[in-house]
Amino acid sequence: MNLQDKTILITGATGGIGCAFSQRLAEQGARLILVGRNSAKLAQESSLISATLSLPVNRQPVPVAADIATDEGLETVVQACSEQGVDVLINNAGSQLFGFYEEQSPAAIAHLVQLNLVAPMLLTSLLLPLLHSRPEAAIVNIGSTFGSIGHPAFVAYSASKFGLRGFSEALRRELSGSTVKVHYLAPRATRTALNDDQVVAMNEALGNAMDDPLLVADELVRLLGGKRGGNRFLGCPEKLFVRINSLLPGLVDRALAKQLGTIRHFAGSDSRDSNSVHNCITNPHTAHKP
Ligand SMILES: NC(=O)c1ccc[n+]([C@@H]2O[C@H](COP(=O)([O-])OP(=O)(O)OC[C@H]3O[C@@H](n4cnc5c(N)ncnc54)[C@H](OP(=O)(O)O)[C@@H]3O)[C@@H](O)[C@H]2O)c1
Repeated sequence: MNLQDKTILITGATGGIGCAFSQRLAEQGARLILVGRNSAKLAQESSLISATLSLPVNRQPVPVAADIATDEGLETVVQACSEQGVDVLINNAGSQLFGFYEEQSPAAIAHLVQLNLVAPMLLTSLLLPLLHSRPEAAIVNIGSTFGSIGHPAFVAYSASKFGLRGFSEALRRELSGSTVKVHYLAPRATRTALNDDQVVAMNEALGNAMDDPLLVADELVRLLGGKRGGNRFLGCPEKLFVRINSLLPGLVDRALAKQLGTIRHFAGSDSRDSNSVHNCITNPHTAHKP
């Protein structure tokens, strides 16, 4: 797909990865619809992109403030797409729950699944008629390595991303031969505010690499530029572990069991500060505490 003049909707556009997506896709000549809950951040991001690329008013990103975990929020997004048109839907908004599953509240677990899995499924369902009306269209679901490897202390998150991967695979097969391509892009750990200080410290202790969000955005551009829908995983060892986990899960069980002490050290409720916030406009690539 040639991205020039395509209208691309990005959910979670103000986050670390969403900001990088917006930047790279705008550089490719795409028109953007940016979705997040914070209107001030959306407006700031839209202005920054417009100023950096000297975009005329009719090419500037359209900010849409909406909570996509609610029916009203989804309706707001669909309304904006009906007005603007849409060629590509990027289901990127997501959140993480780091810590032991039995310490997490049912409400927090339900909200995570709503945002990471149910919202992308519903948004896709609501926007498919519009996507089918375009000569070529695409859906990109942003998953995770943990959507293929169930990981301790990320239980609900892993489950939501496994679901998103299954959704992507089934829909890709259902839509094969149509003009709508379905992609699933799975980053490994990436330096954004999604990961609080404890997660960053745990990744360092375990030797897990963390990518720059722009690297994920470059992969997205390559994925959309390709001819076929498909899965794309970032990171060499991670790709290998995904393979091993699907063929020989017992090996991965044993490897993660050896790391459980370290994971426990960082995931325990005493050592965790779950109040990490982000501000991608001022510092899109670095997680920080308030
Ligand atoms: N960072 C990583 O290590 C990593 C690794 C693998 C996969 N991923 C995936 O990459 C995607 C982006 O993550 P990120 O690292 O960029 O996270 P992030 O920096 O925390 O950004 C999350 C984005 O989602 C938006 N959002 C949150 N709740 C929302 C809601 N209810 N309605 C609408 N928008 C909402 C946030 O904006 P507001 O809060 O202003 O609404 C923000 O724009 C996620 O799906 C994540 O699972 C991340």
